[in-house]
Amino acid sequence: MRVITLLLNSILPGTILLSHAFKAHDFKTCSQSAFCRRGRALAQRASENASWSSPYHIDAETVSFSPSQSSLTARVTSFLYPEIHFQLQVDILKNGVVRVRMDEIGGLRKRYDEAASWALISEPALRDDDLNWVGFKKGKKGGVVKAAYGGVELAISYSPLKITLLRNGREEVVLNGRGLLHMEHFRNKPNQTDEGEERPSELEGEGGEGIEGTREQTVLKEPANGNAWFEGEEKDGYWEETFLSWTDSKPKGPESLSLDVDFPNHGHVYGIPQHAASLSLPSTIGANPHFSDPFRLYNGDVFEYDADSPVSLYGSIPLMHAHSAESTVGIFNALASETWIDILGSPTNTSIATHWISESGILDLFILPGPTPDDVFAQYASLTGTTPLPAHFAIAHHQCRWNYVSSDDVRTVSKRFDEDDMPVDVIWLDIEYSEEHKYFIWDEKTFPDPVEMANDVASVGRKMVVIIDPHLKRTSDYPVFAEAEAKKILVKKANGEDYEGWCWSGSSAWVDFFHPDSWEWWHKLFSLTGKTEGWRWAKSTDTIFIWNDMNEPSVFNGPEITMPKDSIHYGGWEHRDVHNINGMLYHNQTSQAVMRRGTELKRPFVLSRSFFAGSQRFGAIWTGDNLGTWEHMAVGIPMTLSNGIAGMTFAGADVGGFFGNPDVEMLVRWYQVGAFGPFFRAHAHIDTKRREPYLYNEPHKSMFRDILRLRYSLLPMWYTAFRETSVTGLPLLRPHYVVFPKDTRGFAIDDQYYVGSSGLLVKPVTSPGAETADVYLAEDEVYYDYFDRQVYRGAASGTTVTVPAPLSKIPLLRRGGSIISTRQRPRRASPLMKNDPFTLTIALDRSGTSAKGDLYLDDGETYAFEKGELAWRGFRISPEHNKKNSPLVLHSEDLVTLHKGNDVVDGVQIKSWDPRNAFAQSIARVYVERIAVLGLEKEPKSVNVVGGKGLEWTFSKGTGAKGKKTGVASALTIKAPGVLVVEDWQIRIEL
Ligand code: GLC
Repeated sequence: MRVITLLLNSILPGTILLSHAFKAHDFKTCSQSAFCRRGRALAQRASENASWSSPYHIDAETVSFSPSQSSLTARVTSFLYPEIHFQLQVDILKNGVVRVRMDEIGGLRKRYDEAASWALISEPALRDDDLNWVGFKKGKKGGVVKAAYGGVELAISYSPLKITLLRNGREEVVLNGRGLLHMEHFRNKPNQTDEGEERPSELEGEGGEGIEGTREQTVLKEPANGNAWFEGEEKDGYWEETFLSWTDSKPKGPESLSLDVDFPNHGHVYGIPQHAASLSLPSTIGANPHFSDPFRLYNGDVFEYDADSPVSLYGSIPLMHAHSAESTVGIFNALASETWIDILGSPTNTSIATHWISESGILDLFILPGPTPDDVFAQYASLTGTTPLPAHFAIAHHQCRWNYVSSDDVRTVSKRFDEDDMPVDVIWLDIEYSEEHKYFIWDEKTFPDPVEMANDVASVGRKMVVIIDPHLKRTSDYPVFAEAEAKKILVKKANGEDYEGWCWSGSSAWVDFFHPDSWEWWHKLFSLTGKTEGWRWAKSTDTIFIWNDMNEPSVFNGPEITMPKDSIHYGGWEHRDVHNINGMLYHNQTSQAVMRRGTELKRPFVLSRSFFAGSQRFGAIWTGDNLGTWEHMAVGIPMTLSNGIAGMTFAGADVGGFFGNPDVEMLVRWYQVGAFGPFFRAHAHIDTKRREPYLYNEPHKSMFRDILRLRYSLLPMWYTAFRETSVTGLPLLRPHYVVFPKDTRGFAIDDQYYVGSSGLLVKPVTSPGAETADVYLAEDEVYYDYFDRQVYRGAASGTTVTVPAPLSKIPLLRRGGSIISTRQRPRRASPLMKNDPFTLTIALDRSGTSAKGDLYLDDGETYAFEKGELAWRGFRISPEHNKKNSPLVLHSEDLVTLHKGNDVVDGVQIKSWDPRNAFAQSIARVYVERIAVLGLEKEPKSVNVVGGKGLEWTFSKGTGAKGKKTGVASALTIKAPGVLVVEDWQIRIEL
């Protein structure tokens, strides 16, 4: 029914309004997925059997080390199948990360082993210092081999196989400690007529080349004592499985991988996005009825998803943090197949046990040793990369709708924002711009002049984003499809024919982006220059950017609304092996295409719905089809936090909610949430009423305008935060456990967060009728209300303060000790702010004397910053000397010079950096128009530029001085200080 509805909607947009509801039955639960059932049943048997012990062991005589000793290899065997062997490799990497790989040796077939190569930026280097392994006793079963390095110790027990990371003798991460490791070896399909018995049969497909060559087809003997205690009585769903009306042919048979990963000294786990759930992940084994299934990672187009559930959504990042006041560690389990993760917290909340069950693939797991959250971010970033610095417009305000119906509609929307003085940078076009949903091809009836339209929008500094979905309408008059078909780069069915399924464009085909022949071809479709072979998108401009949707992929008539698992990709891999990476490859290629489409490389912007580990390198994502409800607004925050800690920090939810018609109160609050998220886009379903912010009456219209202007005034802060994440991998939105890793009271907090290193603490209101909000302050520091300078004092033991939050106001505090640069001139779009002056707001720390902050600027669109075309300024205020009433000096410094030699800026070595680079010169006249200093204990005697003139200032005495719990902070306002933003200067405040 859903499929029919969607298809009808696609054929008759806007004419059919049917109410949809999340159809849980479209998607599998663990009990409907054979390998998950098997994995969970194994764990159940283990928990019920006191003498359970893993049958997997290292064959001691096979252990060997690489010359630097940082890599150990060994053969692993299960007592249950002595003929089957596995190769274990444990690498200690340069950054201290431990990589654990295991694959079947000479199996009947080959397990998929390329997931990491798509996720990683490069093959990680091994540690090159000599490690000293101790305890290795050749030939002795039950031995333990240990290596100590970088503050941790790695212990590998032989029998049963167990790998433990320890710090100060404390167990941090334990693999197979509960004996749930099971790599189902490849088997022969039993003779159909002789049920239950495993007999040799003709192999389907080719046997893979294993480490020791392909194993001969042999009849495996059942172990003498039987293996039912371990593998279960039943061969449950080994060779075929049905779900609703679909049958998965499973030609390779069982090949699942199960592993327990325990964190014996950590009470919270986070990550494994994307789920609509709290940041601190709840137990999936226990009383909570919403979380009776394991968390699932299987990219899917989950229609109107539940706001509190382990159900898999559009993206999957198999990264988990485990956290305690003592340390943070991480696990990156580089698997691309469907994966289920059970989480079990101990009753005392001091340890967490997890169980990962994947359908296929080799074991390729990275242990990130921490010990701080920031270390884990750096370790994960060194593996999968960071979010590159985006084009500047991409961090501004985006207006989308399914659909703006014509080029004149687009012009009107752009104009209406101007008439109401509301800034917007990007107008988006959803699928109806295209003729019969043949992407790239404009519907000439409604969009007769796309280039002129884009140019009109661009004339006031704005951009457009146009959707290009991955399903290609199967019709020979669609050149994109015709070329892809001719090039033989389409995904295949199990029988080798081109796969056909249904999506917006009706009967469709999908390009196989695993096929290298698809890459150049795809890039050329976007080319703006010259003639290219074949068809190309002539009616485009360099101000049109791209949105990739439905790339899980969404297939309306497929099992679980996606592609059948036995479909075939390049290299003969089944879709089951690569499903969770599929969307990332599409995003990657589109992003490269947009980057290269002109004569000069420009920063691309491509929004994707589907994602995997590493997707952060290719653009932004959003949380998909949320509902216009308070509940969905609220869960968008932990979802964005969770994406962020897993590297996918350039993320956001549809502002307003995709489905439904939010009332104006909800919409105002939703804009407040959006304005304090990394990706800020309003979007709405085709059946909803128009809800562009200019359509509302006062007082709400002004509230929308104010929040949009606030976002724009803070763009310098956002851009600076993006620079930081592009270098460090730290998330843009930082949850409490990241900022205060030792404060146990904050570990479960996920409804407030800090923005980058700016010191802004945000607590969006996500419920109706609120007049106040409670904000948790974790430290003995002063905080200032962003809007009215009200002072709130935190406490070392943590305290909660109540902040006024009428509808016009988002609860927003400045942390004492921070300096934020803003641009306060309202403009239509962000490029028009390029030469605008800055305001510096200094929020002094609790001593009333110190603060710091930074400001990063570059051209916002090219890669010239990599060659040093940039300005990175530091502002710092501190007492001139240690005596009482010391003058305070505000310094403007060049941070690039200060970092020279020991750091990189945006990934570029900056040893030969020139502060007078062309970009810096282009903004040489940009000045600071105002400086506000909050929290001075007394009125200054004078304020002057060191070596220069005395300055004009006013001072408003506060009521919230030191010793007072609350009151208004004092404010010194220096008007027109006349200093330039890219120059070094000092301003002295005499007290
Ligand atoms: C999907 C997207 C949504 C888009 C719609 C039509 O539902 O998630 O954002 O508007 O398709 O393209």
